[in-house]
Amino acid sequence: MSQKRRILVAGNWKMNGSKESAKSLIEGIKAGLDRVKTTEMAICPPFIYIPTVAAMLEGTTIALGAQNLAKEDPGAFTGEVAAPMLKDFGCTYVIVGHSERRAYYGETDALVAQKFVRAQQEGLVPIVCVGELLEEREAGKMEQVVARQIDAVLSAAGASALENAVIAYEPVWAIGTGKTATPDQAQEVHAFIRARIADKDAGIAEKVRIQYGGSVNAGNAAELFAMPDIDGGLIGGAALKIEDFLTICAAG
Ligand code: 13P
Repeated sequence: MSQKRRILVAGNWKMNGSKESAKSLIEGIKAGLDRVKTTEMAICPPFIYIPTVAAMLEGTTIALGAQNLAKEDPGAFTGEVAAPMLKDFGCTYVIVGHSERRAYYGETDALVAQKFVRAQQEGLVPIVCVGELLEEREAGKMEQVVARQIDAVLSAAGASALENAVIAYEPVWAIGTGKTATPDQAQEVHAFIRARIADKDAGIAEKVRIQYGGSVNAGNAAELFAMPDIDGGLIGGAALKIEDFLTICAAG
């Protein structure tokens, strides 16, 4: 078996924070960085705090990401943020297709795939989120749903595009609920996703990082990250707490 991929832990702040809290969170994380040995770290604040966070992350090893982007080029699209603007502020990553965007803002598989492609055109690394609802899991449709979400990206961008992308498996029933998938449950789906990609390109499947997201916390991160196909985490609530986020990063 080949060596495991480098763990990537990304904090998704969602729509949380203030100028003050953003600053103290980044200051606290920077102060504890010596605890994190090998994990790659990224922070995805709300758009409006990107300039502040970007300035504070300069000269650190922590990467910056956004939570969303427009599929369009800059122009007359009121309220949207374009890929070149994210580049302009030093973003490396951008989350696409988070389940909250799919559920509350009507993002379809097709739109998520378009955003994925647009991000890559600009040199951003998309973190594309997939995951099933509780009723889909209970109906035995977990694989079908995740396959459909992955296939939308594969057919729009091609398997080779995953060389510069990250996948986040976030079962919707585990997000913000405190109900984490067990390491075995998560591993099963991660292996399924990797196999799906391997059908198209085995080399890319071996390289692509697949994060787990959904109630990751300081107590469960290490056993999740130890699974063979789990390559880190996309962290919501625990990314807003300095100690917890550092502990999760140090677990990689
Ligand atoms: P929680 O860690 O709060 O469950 O959120 C997970 C998530 O949605 C990260 O994108």
